[in-house]
Amino acid sequence: MLHPNHYNVPKIIIALDFCTKKKAMKLVDLLDPSVFYLKIGKEMFTILGYKFIKELHKLGFNIFLDLKFHDIPNTVFNATKAAADLGVWMLSVHASGGKNMLLSAKKALKSFNKAPLLIAVTVLTSLKEKDLKEIGIKISLKDYILILSKLSNECGLDGIVCPGKEAKKMKLLYGDKCKIVTPGIRFSTDSSFDQKHIITPKEAKECQIDYIVIGRSITTSKNPIKKLNFIIESMQ
Ligand code: C5P
Repeated sequence: MLHPNHYNVPKIIIALDFCTKKKAMKLVDLLDPSVFYLKIGKEMFTILGYKFIKELHKLGFNIFLDLKFHDIPNTVFNATKAAADLGVWMLSVHASGGKNMLLSAKKALKSFNKAPLLIAVTVLTSLKEKDLKEIGIKISLKDYILILSKLSNECGLDGIVCPGKEAKKMKLLYGDKCKIVTPGIRFSTDSSFDQKHIITPKEAKECQIDYIVIGRSITTSKNPIKKLNFIIESMQ
């Protein structure tokens, strides 16, 4: 396995989106926890719960708990606190939950010495402008991302999830303290599946993205290590 030069290169978060622990561990066992971060999302958390996170912590991995909280402020406060109690490295909320919800999530982390990075999803990378229109959002996708990223930044969050093509602008607006997390990473030969905003690993580096989230490109690959090496190489 290649070791990436982390200077000015996006760090890699692997989305462990599997339906069984056995399948997940087959990949986890190949990974070096000092190089890769793991993302536990709704699927694995629903199947395996917090105990799986504890097991991955024992193996030395930093965990991004991507449950994308979106609820009333009190519920999000308590859920955020519970997630931080698990010792995860990063966790996510939906910026569209609004100012009070974002402030509650932030407040929930106040008492932690080593709080997780709190990241707000601006827009799902599976949504296009037409999808926003269908749910009554009539402004452009770019403006929608701008409004929600600004709100997240004003509420003191540590970063945002946004489509790759918007990342450079976000860095210019909010500086390096705003961490940019981007899913939808694909090579031209990969299937895009349900993602509508895709970029290559090389483009992710050019867009100054801090963390790329890679799921199916790796999880459906016959040779995930070869694919990861390819990704690392293309970003050097
Ligand atoms: O398989 P793929 O590489 O498309 O996986 C992307 C991962 O990133 C999934 O786990 C998905 O839940 C997550 N994600 C996303 N778009 C966002 C936020 C998270 O695709 N805006």
